[in-house]
Amino acid sequence: MAQEDRLPPPGAAVATPAGGDASADTDAAGAGPAEGPDRFGPVLVVEDVDKRYVTRRGLRTTSIHAVRGVSLELHRGRVTALVGQSGSGKSTIARLVTGVERPTSGRVRFRPDPAAAGAPDPGPEGEIRVDRLRGRPLREYRRHVQMVFQDPFSALNPTRTVAYALSRPLVNYRGLRGAAVRDRAAELLEAVGLAPAGQFLDKLPHQLSGGQRQRVVIARALAPEPQVLVADEPISMLDVSIRAEILDLLGALVRRQRLAMLYITHDLLSARVLADEVLVLREGTVVERGATLEVIGAARHDYTRLLLDAIPTPFAGEPRPA
Ligand SMILES: Nc1ncnc2c1ncn2[C@@H]1O[C@H](COP(=O)(O)OP(=O)(O)OP(=O)(O)O)[C@@H](O)[C@H]1O
Ligand SMILES: [Mg+2]
Repeated sequence: MAQEDRLPPPGAAVATPAGGDASADTDAAGAGPAEGPDRFGPVLVVEDVDKRYVTRRGLRTTSIHAVRGVSLELHRGRVTALVGQSGSGKSTIARLVTGVERPTSGRVRFRPDPAAAGAPDPGPEGEIRVDRLRGRPLREYRRHVQMVFQDPFSALNPTRTVAYALSRPLVNYRGLRGAAVRDRAAELLEAVGLAPAGQFLDKLPHQLSGGQRQRVVIARALAPEPQVLVADEPISMLDVSIRAEILDLLGALVRRQRLAMLYITHDLLSARVLADEVLVLREGTVVERGATLEVIGAARHDYTRLLLDAIPTPFAGEPRPA
């Protein structure tokens, strides 16, 4: 197990499995820009992180070792999927990556693209140590690493319009004012497939379908022009019929805007559609990792095979991969 938890060398993650009919599948997986290694290297590096939660109830103290020695890299224009059962530590890793929580040990490094719009100054080291950030620099960091959550309804204030939801990050992070806010909000809506935007700007969340709401949540996450998107089960509360199109949208945004994405799911098949690389997490430990088609096509670990067998296909009519 331990030997499978090594960080693969850069570029290894997008290797295509040798032989077979992988080329057709590569297209299906949207296997990303075949431009070779990322010019700047990974945008985010998680290095040997551990997270323990200590809870006290009365006199009893319990410690939960939620994440154990996890390492991963996120690259621009690529999707890395984190797959595992409930309680395996996926959302904990998301919180460490977004700086909401600090690891008990290990490092989280952010290496922003200096050429990107509004990129933060990484300082002389060329990187920001996320696991050490506090206060203002931490708030600033969170702008660059945005989350998309599972439930698009609770993510939006039911009493506020779509235009308002999008205006907040545009005003706070991009410094836009007046008509420019609404213009940019309209552009964002069109970028997530809500066109013409005029039909959506003044709607309230309950006037939208679940899929449309999740598109608004995605547009809001894009508003600060982040470098990394962390999507924690972004389709699991959506109707089966629209899951594939939301995954397509996320994949297209990653490629088009050169975003790095951490896609969290308990469902390996959705990872197959979207991700270039998959990490399988069990009880806080990475038990398998590699190029998506390799992991799914030739799952070595019993647990990975269990995940494959346990799930109903989320895409009606799509046959389960052999
Ligand atoms: N704030 C916390 N305090 C104590 N324990 C926690 C806390 N957050 C998470 N845990 C525990 O850490 C483990 C991992 O939780 P986590 O939420 O990361 O799992 P997950 O893989 O996201 O699960 P799910 O698929 O259900 O969302 C679980 O055992 C959980 O109970
Ligand atoms: Mg979770």
